[in-house]
Amino acid sequence: MKIGVPKEIKNNENRVALTPGGVFELTNYGHEVFVQETAGEGSGFADADYREAGAIMLPTIEAVYAMSEMIVKVKEPTPYEYPLIKKNQVVFTYFHFASSLDLTRAMVASKAVCIAYETVRDDDGTLPLLTPMSEVAGRMAIQQGAKYLEKPIKGRGVLLGGVPGVPPGKVLILGAGVVGVQAAKMAAGLGAHVTMLDINMKRLRYVNDVMPPHVVTEFSSVYNIKRHIKNHDLIIGAVLIPGAKAPRLITRAMLKDMRPGTVLVDVAVDQGGCFETTRPTTHENPTYIINDIVHYCVANMPGAVPYTSTLALTNVTLFYILKLANLGWQTACKEYPDLGRGLSIVQGKIMQPEITEAFEGM
Ligand SMILES: NC(=O)c1ccc[n+]([C@@H]2O[C@H](COP(=O)([O-])OP(=O)(O)OC[C@H]3O[C@@H](n4cnc5c(N)ncnc54)[C@H](O)[C@@H]3O)[C@@H](O)[C@H]2O)c1
Repeated sequence: MKIGVPKEIKNNENRVALTPGGVFELTNYGHEVFVQETAGEGSGFADADYREAGAIMLPTIEAVYAMSEMIVKVKEPTPYEYPLIKKNQVVFTYFHFASSLDLTRAMVASKAVCIAYETVRDDDGTLPLLTPMSEVAGRMAIQQGAKYLEKPIKGRGVLLGGVPGVPPGKVLILGAGVVGVQAAKMAAGLGAHVTMLDINMKRLRYVNDVMPPHVVTEFSSVYNIKRHIKNHDLIIGAVLIPGAKAPRLITRAMLKDMRPGTVLVDVAVDQGGCFETTRPTTHENPTYIINDIVHYCVANMPGAVPYTSTLALTNVTLFYILKLANLGWQTACKEYPDLGRGLSIVQGKIMQPEITEAFEGM
């Protein structure tokens, strides 16, 4: 199969859909891989590395789309790319259709086969192509939170690990899922005292089993949240209710119960956020302050660490890219139902009711 890797052109997106290692694997199976020149630059991969791995480098995005039967990407296609997508071309990437009517209309009109990373789903309901980005965001949440706790950036001036003779900082994590557990691991590693709240007892049991004793679990309730926000330095929002907006667990009124310089990191900002005062920010301008409380609400945290994020993403996508290339999309989606669940728009037909529902009445 002819497979194309365009350079991501969405603002500040430095990831790339295939590493030179991925290209090597695909070419070993006899596939042709067309990579746009400089596509890997933002993630630390040079054109020469791709060439050595067997890629054919093309100078323009137009050439990559024109040559390829399947396009693999990271972010959804931009309006510039809409007219480049051809009938029956397979496009495998994050789409997040429900958040863009224009994108949905363009992909319906293209008659392409759109397979969305975010809806590839295992039998047990886990989302294998979202997990690595949650892992990155969870670990980054502590790195960022620790930085914003420093006084010059208006934090409380607390060193999370403490020092001999001075107690460590306290981290409160709302949600013990993928993001929450990775955040807890980082915070515990720094020596911070960690409190994790969740409504799922299975998750709390797991955390209790695998984490060191300075990670303490409690059931998530308004009462417990109100109690803990008074004396924690860093609060991480990591809740998710699949398919719904994040619940508002910390209200504006509750900010006055926190100590000045407390840092809130709302990782769940991409689902609307779990703090009432959350509004999405960018890596250029990641924080804002309300009532002396520092808010960090970057909606695309993995974008700041493209090298790690690209490797983490391609570790999980390559398996599916190989199946699609070796078997063709129909057979691959039939033989691998997890992949089949990613089929979102196929040759003009919307396959997932959630997409149609999102635009009802529009
Ligand atoms: N900002 C970013 O760059 C970025 C990157 C990756 C993921 N995310 C987001 O982070 C969020 C968490 O993702 P995840 O992969 O960890 O999800 P997950 O499903 O693995 O975990 C979510 C956890 O929240 C818990 N929860 C639900 N309601 C709760 C409540 N009221 N109190 C406490 N816990 C509650 C669930 O029981 C679950 O354990 C999602 O919104 C995801 O989209 C953001």
